[in-house]
Amino acid sequence: MKNNYENVIVVDHPLCEHNMSRIRDKNAGADCFINSLKRVSQILIYTATKELPLACCHVETPVAECDAFKINDEYKIVFAPILRAGLVLSEIAKEIFPEASIQHVGMYRDETTFEPVWYYDKTPVSYENPEKMKVFVLDPMLATGNSAKAAVSLFLKKGISIENIVFVSVLAAPEGLDALTKEFSGLKIYTAHIDKTLNSKAYIVPGLGDAGDRLFNTFEK
Ligand code: URA
Repeated sequence: MKNNYENVIVVDHPLCEHNMSRIRDKNAGADCFINSLKRVSQILIYTATKELPLACCHVETPVAECDAFKINDEYKIVFAPILRAGLVLSEIAKEIFPEASIQHVGMYRDETTFEPVWYYDKTPVSYENPEKMKVFVLDPMLATGNSAKAAVSLFLKKGISIENIVFVSVLAAPEGLDALTKEFSGLKIYTAHIDKTLNSKAYIVPGLGDAGDRLFNTFEK
């Protein structure tokens, strides 16, 4: 689907639309919300990984030998979910890519400044071969872009080039896309929808509410 950003890819699939309508619905029950979010996550992970490099291989079918392609295992694939809502995307990614490394990054946002506060980082101190890595940073909600910027910066500091980093979100606000694309030209961003704006509490409008609370049922009374 066309949009105004050079490196932003909005996935285009009827199943994505169908499930997005369920996710957005405030009356969707927990089952419906989680399952629909997983379906959208599947489409996003398949789409965001479509440029992974392939390598030729040779296989023997029960009938004959033939040439085939597999994902080039010279590249290490890393999925980095931003806790906690990013877990829904990494769960799906791990099903599709069992060999991938899941490197959690934990940040919560300060509710007054909206700045990210780090509390967990499961990335190694350094990477042996950063030029042979493909990193997918996962967060269903790209709102202000502050957590996204912090996570992408972490991988850049560890030597991974922007061409080898991809950001995956379910919903993106223009404010977050502006911030991320301005800071990192060349960063590819995949999302299911671009929404209108943020409200005064930095929630995406119309959005879907608090993704973490809806996933983990942690609403305060
Ligand atoms: N995080 C959420 O869970 N929802 C928003 O709308 C913005 C950030």
